[in-house]
Amino acid sequence: MDGKYIAIYRRFRPETFDKVLGQEHVVRILRSQIASNNTGHAYLFSGTRGTGKTTMARLLAKGLNCLSDGERPCGVCENCVSIKNGAFIDVIEIDAASNNGVDNVRELRESVVYPPGVGRKKVFIIDEVHMFSKGAFNALLKTLEEPPEHVVFVLATTEPNKLPATIRSRCLRFDFKRVSVAEIVKGMREICAEMDVRADDDALVLLAGNADGSVRDGLSLLEQCVSAGTGSIMRESVLEILGSPGDDLLSSLTDDVAAGRIAEALILLDEILAAGKDERRVIEEWIQYFHSALLIKFVKNPERIVNRSVESIDRIRKQSKRLEPAFINDCIYRLSKLLNDVRWSAHTRILLEMTIIEMGENATVER
Ligand SMILES: Nc1ncnc2c1ncn2[C@@H]1O[C@H](COP(=O)(O)OP(=O)(O)OP(=O)(O)O)[C@@H](O)[C@H]1O
Ligand SMILES: [Mg+2]
Ligand SMILES: [Zn+2]
Repeated sequence: MDGKYIAIYRRFRPETFDKVLGQEHVVRILRSQIASNNTGHAYLFSGTRGTGKTTMARLLAKGLNCLSDGERPCGVCENCVSIKNGAFIDVIEIDAASNNGVDNVRELRESVVYPPGVGRKKVFIIDEVHMFSKGAFNALLKTLEEPPEHVVFVLATTEPNKLPATIRSRCLRFDFKRVSVAEIVKGMREICAEMDVRADDDALVLLAGNADGSVRDGLSLLEQCVSAGTGSIMRESVLEILGSPGDDLLSSLTDDVAAGRIAEALILLDEILAAGKDERRVIEEWIQYFHSALLIKFVKNPERIVNRSVESIDRIRKQSKRLEPAFINDCIYRLSKLLNDVRWSAHTRILLEMTIIEMGENATVER
């Protein structure tokens, strides 16, 4: 890699609306507001971390100041580029975590009065706004009540409930949703192509599934795989990075338990843990595995609701035909309870072994 190293998630921040993954409800409205020059004066972007709030705030700021006659923001005009580089004097980003006092807001209010220097609108992006002090909120409220025509505020936070209701009610609010596995995979695929990294779909699905809806987390995981670097990303290497046992082992473990082969199951568990897999991780993934088995058993086309590759779903489908629903339910109950119990316990392994024994015994009792 040449030049200064920049993390993937920063290098690939969307510069135009069409690069944003998910958040269609936000994109649609902002696009049309920008196109019709009909934007509000205060926005509140709330929602899960790493889902695009700061990114969208910058897109809005660019859209308001973009010089293009076509779709705005264009991402390439002088103003768009300048905003991207943080050099545009009319887009002011404030990190509320470190500027949370009344004085900071007073300064802001003084600057609000002056019209934009070069752009059409002066945009104030206040990130992590829930960190503002009470006094800072009060000072901000006055400005939000009667903002000058040329000013747009964008407040972003993961914790909207910490904002005073008076602030919330003055903003146009958008709730950012967790991004689906399919969308994250789509984004990862484009990034891999641009970086000339080969990646199996299976591997990307696995990575995206572990991001839990956060694109940033997904890209950080992708980063780990890339820097572990053989130039290609495969399922096996992903499993290693995730410390996850993988479907093959979970499938065998499930078969053993379902058939009451307790000794085999315990030996297999020993092998999984000896290979460096994390005990809690095994429990979590096994719950997910049983959950998938349950859905696949009952839903005809489970692809949309089960976050697994087609091959993996096929395999689980075959296995789930052999499993009683009551057995699957029982296993999910026991493993979920176990996951809760081990939170404060130093004996995760022992408790997991006991649970396997119970699951195996329960599988073979006459029903
Ligand atoms: N919806 C998305 N579409 C495409 N990329 C995204 C999206 N959300 C996040 N990303 C990626 O993750 C990085 C971080 O996103 P961003 O800073 O916008 O998240 P955030 O919601 O503001 O998170 P936080 O709550 O932690 O501030 C971006 O640079 C981008 O690479
Ligand atoms: Mg942010
Ligand atoms: Zn532009």
